[in-house]
Parts: sequence; C-alpha cells; structure tokens
Amino acid sequence: MSISNQHDVLIIGSGAAGLSLALRLASNGPVAIVSKGPINEGCTYYAQGGISAVLADNDSFESHIDDTINAGAGLCDPDSVRFTIEHGPENIHWLEQLGVPFTKETAPDGARMLHLTREGGHSFRRIVHAADATGVALSNTLVNHVRQHNSIDIYENHIAVDLITGSKQGLKHNRCIGAYILNKNTGHVKRFLAKTVVLATGGASKVYLYTTNPDCSTGDGIAMAWRAGCRVGNMEFNQFHPTCLYHPEAKSFLISEAVRGEGGKLLLPDGKPFMHRFDERAELAPRDIVARAIDHEMKRLGAECVYLDISHRSAAFIKSHFPTIHRRCGELGFDITREPIPVVPAAHYTCGGVMSDMSGHTDIECLYAIGETAFTRLHGANRMASNSLLECLVFAESASKDIINRIADIRLEKSVAPWDESRVTDSDEEVVVTHNWDELRRFMWDYVGIVRTNKRLERAMRRVQLLQHEIHEYYSNFRISSDLIELRNLAQVSELIIRSAMERKESRGLHFSLDYPEALNDSAAKDTILAPDTSHKPSDHIKAIN
Ligand code: FAD
Ligand code: SIN
Repeated sequence: MSISNQHDVLIIGSGAAGLSLALRLASNGPVAIVSKGPINEGCTYYAQGGISAVLADNDSFESHIDDTINAGAGLCDPDSVRFTIEHGPENIHWLEQLGVPFTKETAPDGARMLHLTREGGHSFRRIVHAADATGVALSNTLVNHVRQHNSIDIYENHIAVDLITGSKQGLKHNRCIGAYILNKNTGHVKRFLAKTVVLATGGASKVYLYTTNPDCSTGDGIAMAWRAGCRVGNMEFNQFHPTCLYHPEAKSFLISEAVRGEGGKLLLPDGKPFMHRFDERAELAPRDIVARAIDHEMKRLGAECVYLDISHRSAAFIKSHFPTIHRRCGELGFDITREPIPVVPAAHYTCGGVMSDMSGHTDIECLYAIGETAFTRLHGANRMASNSLLECLVFAESASKDIINRIADIRLEKSVAPWDESRVTDSDEEVVVTHNWDELRRFMWDYVGIVRTNKRLERAMRRVQLLQHEIHEYYSNFRISSDLIELRNLAQVSELIIRSAMERKESRGLHFSLDYPEALNDSAAKDTILAPDTSHKPSDHIKAIN
C-alpha cells in the first residue's frame, strides 16, 4: 500500500495494456491502477477473435510480418512490426502461465495444444483464442492476479481529468508528475502523484455514432497527452469493423471476424455473394477493403445491412466455436446455425494515437502510452485483426522494463497545486453536454466516416470548432462531471482526426477520399504527425479562466 495517492507508477486504464503492465511492475514498488468505470470495463473485455502470434509449426515470423505490413497499406514501421511479432509467443506463454483459459485441441499424437483460428489478412492460422470470448477470459485472469498484489492499489470509478507536468506547475523541469483525477463517487478531484505515469486509456471510437466499442472509448488519453504537449500520429486512420450486428435492440454487438475465418460468407439481401468482386481474398481481405465493399453495396442498393452466413457449418461446430455470438443472436430471434446474420460496419479501432517509442515512452519525460491509445507505428494505415491485444501485451512488457530501469533515479515531485474550483458553480444546463455529445458523434459519422471528401471534412471542422468553443466555456464556468470530461476529450480527438484527414491528400488504408481516390507511391507515403502549440496554455488546475 502507498501513502495516499502517491505511487511509483500511476497507470491510467485497466484494459489488457494497463493490467498487464501493473502485473509486470508489481514486485517493484507501489503502483496505482485507475479505471473510470468498473475494472473490467473497456474494449479488452469485449474482444472476441483472439490474439495473433506465431505458434504453428508451418508459420513464421516473416509471414506474420509480411501480412501485417500488407494490411497496413505502406505505412507500417518495419522495426515496430518485427519487434511486436517476435515478442508474441513469449507473451502468449506468459498468459498461459497466468492461467488464461485458451481454447485447446488434441494433436494427432494425443497432446493438448492451443487451437489457432484465422482472420482477415492472415496467411496462416495464428489466432489464439478462448472460444469467441477471448476478452472475458483475458480480463478476468489479469484482474484476478492484480487483485492479489498488495503493491497494486486499484481505483475504480475514478476518471483522469488532465496530466500534471512540471511546466504547467511552473517548475523548472517538464516531467509528467501525476494526474488530476475525479472520484466519480464523491465528485472530488484529487492530485495523484507518481514518478512515472502511463496512459493505457484505450481508443476513441466513441467519436462515431455507431461503434463496436463500450462507452469508455472516448480518447481521453490521446486528448490529455495532446493538452500536455505530446505529438499524435495517424489520427485519420479509424478502423470500421465490417460486421457489427444490425438489430435495433443490439447495442454495439460484434460478429467476430473469426466467423469469416471459419468460412462465413457475406451476402447481399438477395442472397448473392459479392466480396469476390472487390478482392481475390474475398471475405478474408483486410478490414478496410471488406468494410468499404459493404458500405459501397449498401449505398448502391439502398440496403440497411448485408448478411453474414455461417449456416453451412455444423450446428455443433458453430455452438462450440461461437457460443457468445450464437447465444446473443438467439436472444434476438436469429438462429445462426440456420440463417444468415444481418450486419453493418461500425467504428472499431483507433490506429493512430500518442506518439511513443518501442518502450511506450512519449515526448514528455516520465510519461508513457501503451495499448490502443498509443501510436507505435505498428498498424500503419490499417490494423490487421488480432494484432491489437498483441500490441497491448508486448508494449506493456517493454514499458515495464524501461520503467524498472529508470525509476530509481526519479524523484517524486510533491510541489503540485491542488485542483482549484473556487471560481466555478454547478452546471445550470446539463442539456448542453448531452446535445453536444449527440451532435458530435452524428457529424463525425456522416462527414468523417468510411468515405470522406474535402467538403465533408470542412463541414466537420467548422462544427467541431464551434462545439469546442462552447465546451470550453462550459468547462471553464461549471463544476466538471464525467460526461463533460469525456465530451471535451471527444471534441479534442475529433478535431485531431479531421485535421489529420485534411492533411492526407490521397486514399490509403482506412482513409478513403473521393477527392483523392488514388494512393501516392508507397515511397511518398508518410505518417501524419501533429504537434500541439504549447505556448500560452492556462494552468490545468485552475478551473475558472475568465
Ligand atoms: P481498453 O481495454 O479499452 O481499456 C481502456 C481502459 O482505460 C479502461 O479501463 C477505461 O476505463 C480506462 N480509461 C479510459 N479513459 C480513462 C480516464 N480518463 N480515466 C481513467 N480511466 C480511463 N483486438 C484484438 O487484438 N483481438 C480481438 O479479438 C479483438 N476483438 C475486439 C472486439 C471488440 C468488440 C472490440 C471493441 C475491440 C476488439 N479488439 C480486438 C480491439 C482490442 O480489444 C482493443 O484494442 C484493446 O483491448 C485495447 O486495450 P487497451 O488496454 O488499450 O484499452
Ligand atoms: C474480431 O473478433 O473480429 C475482432 C478482432 C480484432 O478487432 O482484432
């Protein structure tokens, strides 16, 4: 246990990235893990397909590297790809040792071995999974272990508002020294001080109206890092998963890509297949291609959805491989062993994020970013399926090593101003917050979605700037709430997405513009890096800035 709110390491976020980092640091000093909801809540818990790693005898690192680079459409950094993929197997073994109940099969010689499934873009079966609920198995196991360590303090229902840096506190250095954190139960904002801070806050897919993500994916880490002075990269590459269940009562329910990996066919409303017209790999083409093909066909036909059919496989196979999907569709009246599933694309993954190196270290000393919130240059213009959980694990491991190496030389900075709310009052019109949430997510979907144009981006930019102005006034004058913190971050991240999309004068991977439908030569392709203007920023702890 630590002295109240003072730790060696403050980890913001309790998904695969944050939890595995906490475990890897547990024997080295006090660690805080902060989660804005219950500890399990985050994308990790909902992951279905699995974790990619080279484990089969006929597979190779070179093949996984080539597939990742191909899916990334010319923008993956080969060093980052190799680093991630070569550390895959050891991380899967680490999870096995922790007891994650991965699905097994019996080899011809009678030995029990990991069952490997297949997903889009992968040339081999290399996805380790726990049926179709890999995230539940992973998250529960990691949480159980984290709870057993006295050196890890868990703060659920605590939402980070902003990072604390030396320069914002008027100190001589510009290290990250903690964060202001709102306890959602009490409504009070407290200083959490640490020698090192890690952002493991997940992605930002909630900027879109329709998403596979849970409510917490509001880009908080990216927005906080940007405000603190970090660069962000490739924010225009927002991945849309091709197959989200289309049903008025199903909120954000994913139909795993593994369904296509095991033979599922995409069909038009008249029952005809269509993916072969778009890519020779058909249903197993990378996600950007499949999502765009579905979007194209839906718009061409005026269809509300397309269909995914796995009913040619035996009922026993479907029920054992996809029990969660079978059960959920059954609750909504579809028997997937007999009929196709209605599906639509939905926002799924943020390929860009806070610029970080191979140890997860960012532009600011003592600040790390790992998992979906980070931009490690692994995914390029399009993430390949099941490479995200792999990235979370590998970068948690490398960040832990870097932190352990450096921590002895870092002093805990205590001269930090408390959160000052003396000049704000309680909000008089909460409707501003809910209205702006809805408006933002709607125009991001309509104007900054799967297919973009210059005009749509300009419209979106005008609207987001107006909203940011309103939100800023509201934030300055009223006591903060969790919804307001998230709205402020969503608006900030939306602006970064739009700006990045405007900078890319080509179509590549997940960014498709009707005004620039072709890709530049790969040799001319580059990342979109944005740097914040760090001059004249008010101190973050002073709420009223009139
Ligand atoms: P998350 O798991 O999203 O966790 C983020 C954490 O940060 C949460 O604890 C949240 O409460 C906390 N947080 C956020 N903001 C704040 C704040 N301001 N203050 C305090 N806490 C905060 N990838 C794969 O590789 N394989 C799959 O099979 C797969 N399936 C998926 C299925 C679905 C339905 C979804 C949505 C995603 C899937 N993905 C998959 C993607 C993958 O799950 C995520 O990219 C990955 O889990 C991200 O992990 P993370 O630790 O970075 O963030
Ligand atoms: C899925 O199961 O389709 C999700 C896999 C991923 O996002 O990597």
